[in-house]
Amino acid sequence: MLESNCTKINFFSGEDIPLEMHKVRMVQRLNLSEVERRLAVIEEAGSNTFLLPNREVFLDMLTDSGVNAMSEAQYAAMMMADDSYAGSETYYRLAATLTDIFGTKYFLPAHQGRACENILANAFVTEGSTAIMNYHFTTTKAHITRLGGRVIEALGEQALNTVSTDPFKGNFDMAKLRRSVEETGPGNISFVRIEAGTNLIGGQPISLDSMRQVSAFCKEKKIMLVLDASLLADNLYFIKTREADCRARELADIVREIGSLMDIIYFSARKLGCARGGGILTSSDEYFKKMRTLVTLYEGFLTYGGMSVREMEAINVGLRETLDFNVINQTPLFVEALGKALEAQGIPVVTPFGGLGCHVDATRFVDHIPQEQYPAGALAAAIYIAGGIRGMERGTLSEQRQPDGSETLAQMELVRLAIPKRVFTYSQIKFVADRLAWLYQNRRMIGGLEFEDEPETLRFFLGKLRPVGDWQKALAKKFRKDMPSGL
Ligand code: F0G
Repeated sequence: MLESNCTKINFFSGEDIPLEMHKVRMVQRLNLSEVERRLAVIEEAGSNTFLLPNREVFLDMLTDSGVNAMSEAQYAAMMMADDSYAGSETYYRLAATLTDIFGTKYFLPAHQGRACENILANAFVTEGSTAIMNYHFTTTKAHITRLGGRVIEALGEQALNTVSTDPFKGNFDMAKLRRSVEETGPGNISFVRIEAGTNLIGGQPISLDSMRQVSAFCKEKKIMLVLDASLLADNLYFIKTREADCRARELADIVREIGSLMDIIYFSARKLGCARGGGILTSSDEYFKKMRTLVTLYEGFLTYGGMSVREMEAINVGLRETLDFNVINQTPLFVEALGKALEAQGIPVVTPFGGLGCHVDATRFVDHIPQEQYPAGALAAAIYIAGGIRGMERGTLSEQRQPDGSETLAQMELVRLAIPKRVFTYSQIKFVADRLAWLYQNRRMIGGLEFEDEPETLRFFLGKLRPVGDWQKALAKKFRKDMPSGL
């Protein structure tokens, strides 16, 4: 096990900037094209940053999913993979690590996080059932509603406030949870789901204390408790640094306790473990048996679950590295650095800074664009035009329409600038802040978007939109005027 060194490294100058605790030994060339080309490319992509080819992107801040930098130890482990359909040694190694880290008995492999959600939903969600969670995630909700289930959210008042000092905005409101269970009836609840590092409200953590309270309540009511641990690494950093009774505890010890509170844990290993894959953990014979046939049906045999064994070896090492403070502190420190640089320009960002990425508040950035015209989607397209930076809309576009076809207006309109682990340098972060500062000065030029081609489910992935009016052309022209010889 690696040592967790929990000391913050300060600069003599007093400058508060992050320090990379790794060195770069392999690089990928980047291209930054002219603004005129960026305009043509975003038009071609239907103003949807998911549809941009990577060769046209300078800084890819779409997500951290599957694009975190891996360590030399991870690459080395990939060479030792045991490629066999059944009984692979790689599987046993990974299963043993997961038992060691979380204290759970069984490991069911799946090819990524939403595959775990598909299995969970198929095993436990029935028509008319309810799943209660601190907040939904897009793919989680889609799997539940597809099977006729519904989602209730039980976050506290502060959670949706983009300006806040609440250190744990992902915490459950216990009164809301109790009320929801009483109104629904425990027998109609498929499960309660805790999402670590609550993605859609800005990568906001949940405290260990809140997890304990939810767990005790679920045990009392005999309701299954599920943890989505995809974003646990960042959440762990915040538990360690923000939760008083955890400061002196080892990360491994904290994770063990988290494991003991849950009935089922699942994770996207595209995030947790810095590789590509996923898995479900439980100590219950009953739940294990219920889910294992679904793994063989949808994913692959029980000892690989649709993953490449090389990736499984990388996950194995990556998970152990997650217990090293100097590994898990990198994203939160870079998110904070970007957040502070944006705030210094008056740009509205979600506070306190969370994990995963810096979240720009489109509701305030482009307050003149109505929600029906997807302000966060429009801002994401404008950010690409301004700097070749690819962020992700997390607002109304990412919602599902109501059964009657009307829009579900999102509770927050955010553009997420994700910070994949150990990928970007500090000067690249400064470039992002610089281009957003230009855009903020010209924010009134940004207009709305409307659908040209709208898929029925998860429309944000593949949908194509067009600008309302010709604001994108005008914005590119203004950029060229302000930066005659700059990219
Ligand atoms: N749960 C959470 C909290 C996630 O953030 C994600 C993915 C998933 C489940 C699904 O996992 O992608 O492996 O199927 N989040 C990515 C993101 C897509 O960009 O935030 P997956």
